[in-house]
Amino acid sequence: MNPGMPFFDPVESGFYTSCLENLLARRDLRPVLADGLVELGAGTGIPMIEALRRRESTVPVRGFELDATSSQVAARLVDKVGLPNYRIIHGDFFAGVRGGRERCAAANPPYLPARGHAPELWGGETGAEVSLRVLSAHFDVVLLLVSSISDPVGVLQHAAANGYRIVDWMARPIRFGPFSRDPLVSGRISELAAAGLAFFTPDSYTLAGVTWQRPTAGLPAPAALPAGSDAQALTHVLTAGDARAIRGADAA
Ligand SMILES: C[S@@+](CC[C@H](N)C(=O)[O-])C[C@H]1O[C@@H](n2cnc3c(N)ncnc32)[C@H](O)[C@@H]1O
Repeated sequence: MNPGMPFFDPVESGFYTSCLENLLARRDLRPVLADGLVELGAGTGIPMIEALRRRESTVPVRGFELDATSSQVAARLVDKVGLPNYRIIHGDFFAGVRGGRERCAAANPPYLPARGHAPELWGGETGAEVSLRVLSAHFDVVLLLVSSISDPVGVLQHAAANGYRIVDWMARPIRFGPFSRDPLVSGRISELAAAGLAFFTPDSYTLAGVTWQRPTAGLPAPAALPAGSDAQALTHVLTAGDARAIRGADAA
C-alpha cells in the first residue's frame, strides 16, 4: 500500500467479494447472520459493498478499519452508494467487537510475514498472527482468506483446536505482486518455506477463502463437505507449491 493509499487489488479483493457473497447466500447461516457480521479491515469498502449489493443483503455489517485514510475512503463510498446496513468504523477490530452481538466475522486479513513498505499488511512473524487472533475470539462463524505463504497449516490446525469445522472453501492462485516482492517480505517468505511454513511456485501462491463454523445452539450441525473436498483436500491445495525463492521482479 502506498502511504495514504487504501489496499485494493482487483484479483484478491474480487476473490474476497466472491467469498463474502457465498457466505451471505447461505441459508443455514441466516440465524447467525441475523445478529450481524463484523469485518476486520474494510480497506476501500468495495468488496463488502459489492457483496451486499449483489446478494441484495440486509445483514447489518460493521466494518472496522485501522488505517485512517482507508476508513475515510470506505465511509464516503458507503455513503455514496447508500447502503444503510454497512457501517465503517475507524479503529481496531479486536477492541471494537468486544461485547458486540455479532456472531460472525469476515476478513481478508493482513498476511504478509514481514513489515515491508506496507506495514498495514503485516500479519506478524509468520503472517498468520491476525488470523489466529480472529480464530481465538468468540465467533460462531468465521470467514478468512488463508494464504499459502503464511503458515496455512498452522491456521487450519488452530481453527480445529478451537472447535471450528470447515463448512466451505474455495481457492485461487495469486501472482506475486509489489507487496510480496518487497525484498524484506520475499526474504522472510523464503525463510518460512525452508521451515515448511510457506508454499508457492516461483510466480504465485495460493489464497483460499475458508468458512468455519463452531457447534452453536439454535443452528443445525455443520453439513459434511462433499467427499474429497474436506480439510485434508484444502491442506493439499494450500501446501502444493515447493519453490524456495520468488522469481525476481525483472523476471516477472
Ligand atoms: C489485505 S487488506 C484488505 C482490505 C479489503 N478488505 C480488501 O480485501 O480489499 C487488510 C486491511 O486490514 C486493515 N487492518 C489490519 N489490522 C486491523 C485491525 N486490527 N482492525 C481493523 N483493521 C485492520 C489494514 O489497514 C488493511 O486495510
